[in-house]
Amino acid sequence: MSFEHLICVDDENIVLQSLKHEIKADPFFKNIIIDVAESADDAVALAQEISDTGDTIPVIISDQRMPVKSGSELLGELHGDFPDTKKILLTGYADLNAVTDLVNRDALYRYLAKPWDSKDLLLSLREAFTTFRQHRQIDALNAKLESMTLAMVSALESTNFFFDEDTGNHIRRISTLSGYIARLAGLDETFIKLIRLYAPLHDIGKVGIAKDILLKPGKLDRREFDTVKEHVRIGHRIIDDNSIDPIAKNIVLYHHEKWKGGGYLEGISGDNIPLEARIVSIADVYDALTSPRVYKPAYPKETAVEILRQERGISFDPDLLDAFLADSDDPYWPRDVK
Ligand SMILES: [Fe+2]
Repeated sequence: MSFEHLICVDDENIVLQSLKHEIKADPFFKNIIIDVAESADDAVALAQEISDTGDTIPVIISDQRMPVKSGSELLGELHGDFPDTKKILLTGYADLNAVTDLVNRDALYRYLAKPWDSKDLLLSLREAFTTFRQHRQIDALNAKLESMTLAMVSALESTNFFFDEDTGNHIRRISTLSGYIARLAGLDETFIKLIRLYAPLHDIGKVGIAKDILLKPGKLDRREFDTVKEHVRIGHRIIDDNSIDPIAKNIVLYHHEKWKGGGYLEGISGDNIPLEARIVSIADVYDALTSPRVYKPAYPKETAVEILRQERGISFDPDLLDAFLADSDDPYWPRDVK
């Protein structure tokens, strides 16, 4: 079982005792452990000790004027290891610089004048605890949502995997390759995470296409090709729900569009094709070229790169392709991709 701690820091023991006494008298803090530290260094050591036990520190309240290290220095320092902890600074002096610095770093929850008003102090502390708990709940819900999405993608991925082992491995690699291209293109970590998460879904609609067409060891006739194209529409229908991230839908629906137009299903072009679909399209084709298929052998990396280059600005977004191929001479390129 883990506990919540409130750390109070002041170099004067008598102040600490009165602070603790007032807080303890409020029933809100009945189940909260109140710790005290008489210096900034003691507070840092204490915070580390508490966190090592698995307990949380929702709030730290510190006096500003202390010898050796000030309260604002302490709170600023703790912000690195304890960014979620709400930090309250108590000061009897108009030390605007200290407060401004902390506020600018988004490290200060509240600033209270000393001597404090008991009502104000308790209200601030209660609000700080409540805010900390709400943020924790949101984080937990987000983590749950992410793991549910991953479980769903994995389940859908497995459907394909049992259907055709080549396709199963292909969709796993597409996830890594798409994240790799997004990173090379300088996109942010959140986007990279999402594209890795959703890229495996791109061909989910193939579950609705007859196996004998998908695995045909030769060129498809026109009617068969038209049938295969339908995997985009079927896939989109499978995940067409308001709760599904538009990034996932765009990948499924637009990963066969071409930069110059003429792809399927809608035939849109350029920036009208969502970025995530333009990325997955490159990853999809590169992986298809370098993997053996029933109708073709695996091409060497150099051949695949050459084929992609020929399609620069035709099938593929030129900027994204340049980012992807920039280091293609490196023998270990594409890195992270097995
Ligand atoms: Fe596809």
